[in-house]
Amino acid sequence: MSPSIDASERPLRVALLGCGVVGSEVARLLTRDAPELARRVGAPLELAGIAVRRPGRERDLDLPEDLFTTDAHALVTRGDIDVVVEVIGGIEPARELILAALENGASVVTANKALLAEDGGQLFEAAAKAERDIAFEAAVAGAIPIVRPLLESLAGDAIHRVLGIVNGTTNFILDAMTTHGSGFAEVLEEAQRLGYAEADPTADIEGFDAASKAAILASLSFHTRVVIGDVHREGITDVTAADIRSAEEMGCVVKQLAICEKIETPDGPAVSARVHPAMIPESHPLASVRGAYNAVFVESESAGQLMFYGPGAGGAPTASAVLGDLVSVARNRVKKVWGPGESTHAQLDVLDIGRARTRYHVQIDVDDRAGVLSTVAQAFAEFDVSIKTVRQEGHGSDAQLVIVTHEAQDAALDATVRALRDLDMVRDVSSVMRVEGVG
Ligand code: HSE
Repeated sequence: MSPSIDASERPLRVALLGCGVVGSEVARLLTRDAPELARRVGAPLELAGIAVRRPGRERDLDLPEDLFTTDAHALVTRGDIDVVVEVIGGIEPARELILAALENGASVVTANKALLAEDGGQLFEAAAKAERDIAFEAAVAGAIPIVRPLLESLAGDAIHRVLGIVNGTTNFILDAMTTHGSGFAEVLEEAQRLGYAEADPTADIEGFDAASKAAILASLSFHTRVVIGDVHREGITDVTAADIRSAEEMGCVVKQLAICEKIETPDGPAVSARVHPAMIPESHPLASVRGAYNAVFVESESAGQLMFYGPGAGGAPTASAVLGDLVSVARNRVKKVWGPGESTHAQLDVLDIGRARTRYHVQIDVDDRAGVLSTVAQAFAEFDVSIKTVRQEGHGSDAQLVIVTHEAQDAALDATVRALRDLDMVRDVSSVMRVEGVG
């Protein structure tokens, strides 16, 4: 027999801000599954209002017209709202609306990675002051449960490193380049035609979207507030079909990764967060993440290696994460308790990219004559970058040296590349790519 709802339990009123791809799916499921959600929460969830920009727009929702309003501020401040679900995205008016919601006693569910990565501190402080929840599972990797595992399930463990494929568009593009041997521009066009890439793909292909998610993952993993400005960001626009072939020759694939790690320094532990294309071995679990899928690979002291995998975007998958948060914060309201807030007690230093350490794949167009290899090797030695393998491709005017290094500091590799570019015998350093997930 299913548990009954206490008839005296008043409905919890939910205000939805935004009714696009995610918002309309949230509204649809909230309405369709109302009886079951009520049983899970212990009180009915009542959709009290939906703030939209264009009220007359055709929507595939069987909801009364008077639920829709263009006055989001009035909706969140009307005084009887229990939970505000924000799925409009962007910085303003989302920030002002979330702060107003908290001040007015509502708990908040948000999918807004950009706002959390830019100004999460202000939101978490407001939530703590109001003694209300702010939940954001949908902000990172869509349907994949990763925020709650980091915030709660792994709260007793020590996380060393998080490697994530957290942007479906770039994974789709790099995967298609790998499968078909095509160039970036050609695949981007195809991805836009198929709806995998936006008409303006900048946020995805230049790494802004992944950098927001990296800031959130690093903050959660290392109990330190990391903002988007702390994240080193490189996009995928310079990745060539030749880079992908070189990766294949080494038994690797190219992936756009968000990498958050704890680094031991002479001054104690610190944190680094970066987003860039990288080669990873075909045997690494992240290498098998194909198409627009996302995955987050977590390395921790006691749990060891964990991988969270699934759809990272889209209406229904993202709505799954939003509704999970909604049920969770609604349960807390029924019990009059609040879940865990932001955990930033460690407040570790956040290092710049120069202090990150990894391996590098460097491709150098050179003159094909005696002594070139030794001069090139000397440039690496000068900056204490140790070479793991060297091979020559082509000959004569097409000669290339392909060098893979041992782990080195990013600043040292950067200085090496600058020194290489100054050598007469070096025509070009045609590609530099980090190699991750080895050993
Ligand atoms: N545009 C993102 C992606 C989804 O391509 O994965 C939203 O963060």
